[in-house]
Amino acid sequence: MSESAQEFYGRWARCYDLIARETPGIARLRRRAAAACRLEPGDTVVEMGCGTGANLPYLREQVGPEGTVIGIDFTRPVLERARAATAEYDNVHVLQGDATEPPVGLEAARSFANGDDSVDGEDVAAGGVDAVLATFVVGMLADPAGAVDDWCELVGSGGHVVLANAARSDEWYAPPVNAVFRAIVVLSTPPTTRLRYDDPPHLRLDAKIDAAHARLRERAVAVADETHLFGVVRLTGGRLE
Ligand SMILES: C[S@@+](CC[C@H](N)C(=O)[O-])C[C@H]1O[C@@H](n2cnc3c(N)ncnc32)[C@H](O)[C@@H]1O
Repeated sequence: MSESAQEFYGRWARCYDLIARETPGIARLRRRAAAACRLEPGDTVVEMGCGTGANLPYLREQVGPEGTVIGIDFTRPVLERARAATAEYDNVHVLQGDATEPPVGLEAARSFANGDDSVDGEDVAAGGVDAVLATFVVGMLADPAGAVDDWCELVGSGGHVVLANAARSDEWYAPPVNAVFRAIVVLSTPPTTRLRYDDPPHLRLDAKIDAAHARLRERAVAVADETHLFGVVRLTGGRLE
């Protein structure tokens, strides 16, 4: 999955960037997701699977010039776009890495100190991470609930974890919205050439998203639990006790 995902997002980086920034209603959702991180000026926030960086300016707005924003993604071409889009900020760092083994926090600092040069020494945020944001990412992970657990450990008590994901709508007007949603998921799930699935991708995606959001609700006190964009996008934010 991870190799085909990197190939897919790498190939479609420019097109994805357009959808990520220009879809009607998406800017409002991104601003809302950044606000749910409950950041203070000077804080450190990590975005897992940051893609082309569409959330990074909203996060930078929250932490201010003295804070730190770190975006992590494993696909190089999308990272290049994220880097170019945030070049004007010297406190926004974009790292290539796996969101399930992020190159941030104390562990990464230890690896760096032990000579692991795959970790960027300047950006490991060994001083602590105040919030983690992951938008439209957990559906691509093998163990989404496990990743949420790890992100909760990374922020620790008092920190925030925020998830936003597209899944089937439960609203009364759901059937046409869900039909469009299903088509988008099938077309945007690597490999795109496959027409028949034993286990349809939109159902697999729904199950993963349910598991990740449910785990966050179990582990944290809710600061946001809402739907956006005709009920298709779920936003869940929590504070760790
Ligand atoms: C649908 S895009 C979302 C990008 C961005 N979060 C947004 O809201 O526009 C999913 C991104 O997650 C990245 N991704 C998926 N699994 C990942 C992993 N295990 N580690 C790092 N990045 C990952 C992909 O490379 C892709 O850029």
